[in-house]
Amino acid sequence: MPEIIFDRVGKLFPSTGKPGLVDVSFTINKGSFSSIVGASGSGKTTTLRIIAGLEQETSGHVVVPGRVGMVFQNAALFPWATALENVSFGLQMQGEKPVHVRATAEKYLAMLGLSAQAHLYPRMLSGGQRQRVGIARALAIEPPVLLLDEPFSALDEEVRLELCHDVLRIWQETGITVVMISHQLDEAVALSQKVFVMKQFSVAGTCDINLPYPRHPHAPEVVALVDHVRSIYRGEGNTV
Ligand SMILES: Nc1ncnc2c1ncn2[C@@H]1O[C@H](COP(=O)(O)OP(=O)(O)OP(=O)(O)O)[C@@H](O)[C@H]1O
Ligand SMILES: [Mg+2]
Repeated sequence: MPEIIFDRVGKLFPSTGKPGLVDVSFTINKGSFSSIVGASGSGKTTTLRIIAGLEQETSGHVVVPGRVGMVFQNAALFPWATALENVSFGLQMQGEKPVHVRATAEKYLAMLGLSAQAHLYPRMLSGGQRQRVGIARALAIEPPVLLLDEPFSALDEEVRLELCHDVLRIWQETGITVVMISHQLDEAVALSQKVFVMKQFSVAGTCDINLPYPRHPHAPEVVALVDHVRSIYRGEGNTV
């Protein structure tokens, strides 16, 4: 069942008169894991921001969830708040009871393996731990959709792989719909059921991935699909 629908969506930024999106159409099913890849400036973040309701389309039609959890590239935590307080913030804003806020925040910190760091401030956490707090904070409001904008790109390879593994586990445990922007084609193919390739403000092609999880990055079928996505990226291939 579709949870997100873009039908010939355009976005023209009034401040510059320039486009962010041109004629973008796609659907994302409830409970699925999708990735968006593509060159810098191709419209990936604009797409995510429209899904999140942070930006309004200027043409076409969208169906987006009313509530989303969003994780940014640099975690964007409140520096003056502990990990637990950061994760609690959205729930407090929703007017939840303090006991419920605390229990839910602790649950999601635990899900990300951060119970021991609950009372630390962001400056006391590693980059990977900060991203984990960002993910726990996004999940804490229990949204139907989790949006991730290049959440691992500032991390070293080992931490990136650990976090990929965690996001996959959380998706499988919670059944949440995930849409992730990635610069790494292998990461997108290893995690997603569908990869959208964006080029010049539009979707140049999509690739469906029906391989079982977990996927080994060096498995021949994974490597073949990464090559296929790369060929769409370079303009040699088309939609599968
Ligand atoms: N608030 C804004 N005002 C004006 N133009 C914008 C704004 N946000 C994005 N753009 C423009 O829209 C286009 C798409 O930007 P977007 O941020 O969606 O790209 P992206 O694919 O996420 O790139 P990157 O990989 O570098 O993050 C770019 O040309 C960008 O300059
Ligand atoms: Mg971006």
